[in-house]
Amino acid sequence: MLGLPEVKGSSGSRSLSPFRLGRSRAQERIRIYIAALIIVALWYTYFLRLRYMNELATISQTESAEPCDFLPRDAAQNSTLGFQKILALSKSPSWRSRGLIAAATLTGLDIEIPKQPFITPELIEAFSKIGGPEVNGHPKTGSAHAWLAHLDLLRYGVSSNLDTFLIVEDDVDWDINIKKTMALISDNVRKFRDVGGEDDSPYGRSWDLLWLGHCGEHTDKATPRQEFEDPTVPTIDQYVGWSKKWLPSISAGHRAIQKGVNPVCTFGYAVTAHGAQKILDFAGKGGNEAFDIRLLDGCKNNHLNCLTVQPEIMHHYEPPKDLGYTSLVKEEDGKGSSVDEEKFETVMGGTENIIDSARCMALFESSCMKQRR
Ligand SMILES: *[C@@H]1O[C@H](CO)[C@@H](O)[C@H](O)[C@H]1NC(C)=O
Repeated sequence: MLGLPEVKGSSGSRSLSPFRLGRSRAQERIRIYIAALIIVALWYTYFLRLRYMNELATISQTESAEPCDFLPRDAAQNSTLGFQKILALSKSPSWRSRGLIAAATLTGLDIEIPKQPFITPELIEAFSKIGGPEVNGHPKTGSAHAWLAHLDLLRYGVSSNLDTFLIVEDDVDWDINIKKTMALISDNVRKFRDVGGEDDSPYGRSWDLLWLGHCGEHTDKATPRQEFEDPTVPTIDQYVGWSKKWLPSISAGHRAIQKGVNPVCTFGYAVTAHGAQKILDFAGKGGNEAFDIRLLDGCKNNHLNCLTVQPEIMHHYEPPKDLGYTSLVKEEDGKGSSVDEEKFETVMGGTENIIDSARCMALFESSCMKQRR
């Protein structure tokens, strides 16, 4: 019996011993009971242990498991933050993507960096000229390039049949506690959108765009929103950006899930499958100065059903300005050029509005919240 024959054998031989024949039958019976109890107890412990090890094995095998076994807020803390995938927009390997991978490894995130299709200068130029006098603006070269790259990534997500996915830019940063915050965001998006028990997805699907990483959003008491306490939110004093003046309308120590009214910068945004398709239609034909401004227009005018997290939980990391850092988009737009980028990996820069930066923790074992521009 499960490799424990010696216990059985010793008790058996004891009952056969000639020296014990004089003992009463009752005593003998008690002994047998005790021996049987010990066997059962040993067998039970062994069995429990087997089960426990099996469980361990399944957990480590697939952190994924089926969502139905979990609460929505648990799925929100998985390695893709409750979305089906996290896709990074990245032109080529650089300090940006290497920092991204380091931050993802530190915080247990799974980020796919699909290879970007080559975007021809002809397409970029044509795209930047789309639209007649009725459009709200035209992207410059760098902005047109980034815009087309976002469209490609959305198309990739739609073609891969993803239910929901999160797109991040490759210089994005987040707090080392992001998974805990995502659990809170799951609770509150579901509450805000009244997601019923029959839908166990972390965020429901009644939105096109869930804007997690931005560089500002309007909010006031009249904005439809759902506040929640989050220990990782910066104070108003620490916060940098144009929405600083609007944030005091949210209680201290809280974030809010709100209707997207004026979000800027696409550092990180999640889309549903139907949302991605709508964005491809709505933003596929240019018509504005940049992709994020086009999305902002869509949110503001209700062409797109947008939710934002306020203040943002993702923000771009910037190498030290005094090392001569200029963003790729600005560089291509003709607003300066970046110096030798190798230095960016040895000297710590900073990230606004993120208290414990995953990038800086991973690369420099330090937080690096920039407090003033
Ligand atoms: C994370 O959870 C989402 C939602 O349940 C699911 O679609 C996704 O596959 C999960 N990610 C992983 C890596 O298991």
